[in-house]
Amino acid sequence: MKLLPSLLLCFLLEVLSISCQDTGLERIVGGYAPVPHSIKYIVSIQTMGRQHICGGFLINTYWVVTAAHCNIGLTNMLIVAGDYALTIYEGTEQQILPQLLVPHPAYNSVTNNNDLMLIKLTGPIQQNQYVSIALLPRQGATITQGRICRVSGWGYTSPVGGQIPSTLRTVKLPIVSTEKCNSSESFNGRITENMLCAGFTLGGKDACQGDSGSPLVCDGRVYGVVSWGIGCAEPQFPGVYTALSHFRRWIDDTILSYYSRCNNKD
Ligand code: ARG
Repeated sequence: MKLLPSLLLCFLLEVLSISCQDTGLERIVGGYAPVPHSIKYIVSIQTMGRQHICGGFLINTYWVVTAAHCNIGLTNMLIVAGDYALTIYEGTEQQILPQLLVPHPAYNSVTNNNDLMLIKLTGPIQQNQYVSIALLPRQGATITQGRICRVSGWGYTSPVGGQIPSTLRTVKLPIVSTEKCNSSESFNGRITENMLCAGFTLGGKDACQGDSGSPLVCDGRVYGVVSWGIGCAEPQFPGVYTALSHFRRWIDDTILSYYSRCNNKD
C-alpha cells in the first residue's frame, strides 16, 4: 500500500505549513494572496533540494524567463509550474528540469544591467487550468509613469527577518519614471535604460528577496522582471526590474536560433 505513507506525508506537511504561517503579516511586501492558481504563468525556481530560490514565468511551453542572477547552475535547478502553496502538494504542480540556461551575454553582476535569463525546459509544460503562458511586450514598447502593474512571487513578506511565505503573494504598484528613479534622493544614476522602477514614494509595497525573476505585469503583458532594490518597500527606493520591452528581440532571436541551428549532435 503506497498510498498511506504519501497521505501521511501530505497531512504532516499541511499541519506544518499551517503552524508555520505568520498569521496576519503581509507577504511580497504589503501584498495579499491571490485567488489560488489565478496567476498561471508564474513558476518557482528551486534547488534540487526543493528550496525556492527565484520566480520565473513561462513564455511558451518550453521556455521560462527569469533574472540572470537566479542562475544556480543547470544541474542544481528544478522548475515548478502550477504551484500556489510551496510546502503543500496540491496535485496541480508540474516539475520540470532545465535543459539549457541562457543568461543574457551582457549581464553585469556589479551594475545588475541586463539581468535576464532564458531557460529551456527538458520537456513541454502542459497548459491547463493551472498553468499557462505569459505575453511579452513588443520590442521598444513603453510603459508610462503611473501605470499600475502587478508583481507576484514567493519572496519575503518583510524586509527584515525574511521568511519565504507558504503561498504566492501579489501586489499592485505604479511605474516610476526613470528620471525620478535616477534622482539623487533615489538611485542616483544607477538605473540604466534596461531597467524599470515600480513602487510608491512612501514605500510600503514592493517585491523582496526571493521574488527575483518574478513577473511585473502591466496591461496583460510582462514588462518587468524582479531584479534588485535597496532593502524592500523603503520610501524613495522603488523596486528595480529588468525592462523586458528592451529584450523582446533578444528573447525571440535566442529562441529562434536554438531551433534553427543544427543541434542534434549524433
Ligand atoms: N535581488 C532580489 C532577489 O534575488 C530581489 C530584490 C528585489 N528587491 C526589491 N526591493 N524590489 O530575490
